Amino acid sequence: MDILFLPITRFKTVKSLEQKFSALLRSLIEDIAVSLETYDIPTDEPWLVEQEPASLVQWVPTPFEVARKMLELAQVSSKDRIYDLGSGDSRILIMAVEEFGVQKAVGYEIRKGLYQISKQKVQYQNLQDRITLIKGNLLNADISGASVITVYLSPKANKRLRPKLEKESRPGTRVVSYDFPIGNWKADKKVRLGKYPGSERSHTKTIYMYVLPQAFAGSTHPSAENKRELTKTAA
Ligand SMILES: C[S@@+](CC[C@H](N)C(=O)[O-])C[C@H]1O[C@@H](n2cnc3c(N)ncnc32)[C@H](O)[C@@H]1O
Repeated sequence: MDILFLPITRFKTVKSLEQKFSALLRSLIEDIAVSLETYDIPTDEPWLVEQEPASLVQWVPTPFEVARKMLELAQVSSKDRIYDLGSGDSRILIMAVEEFGVQKAVGYEIRKGLYQISKQKVQYQNLQDRITLIKGNLLNADISGASVITVYLSPKANKRLRPKLEKESRPGTRVVSYDFPIGNWKADKKVRLGKYPGSERSHTKTIYMYVLPQAFAGSTHPSAENKRELTKTAA
């Protein structure tokens, strides 16, 4: 990592060193692959390398300011039940409860280490009555109780999840996806984020906010499974 070789004297103050370091760290995190299909994570951290056959993507935490923007876009309030599918360290759920007043938040996480860390965080903050964590495959999640669903996965994982969302979500559910659109769904709101300070990357990220079933009902290419359902409903 280049930061190790930067001469300390280039930084006038400790603060500027901290800022530069955190910007580089963030850019490094952004550079880490989200998708297991395309990337190999070179790290010894047990919760990152543990093999989990059902895992669709690696853990890359959503930056807090982005998580806040996602919840704002969905206009999350105390009336909502929020589900994070692939909940990582549960930061989105904790933020939804602490900052947006959500009473019921549910996370599905496949990795044992992340699930355990999340449990500890939730217990430490005494939020266990409001946050339910399930160690399990998001593709088998019971999402019927959700009014808001957040995801940060990959194009391929979104493709696998899409028929489930179309079939099992309640009408009116808002789905917020960070960085990757969900197939050809029509976003109700879309926010393109700026580059991180210090990041060399030209790639900017986008948050997509969908309202179901409108997001896919008008689509000319709903998933095959849902097309059958829509045809049945229309008949
Ligand atoms: C890119 S991270 C996002 C984490 C969190 N949602 C956030 O925004 O900070 C994706 C997460 O999904 C989890 N994951 C991957 N495949 C999964 C699966 N089949 N079921 C449940 N979780 C899964 C990963 O372990 C990882 O924690």
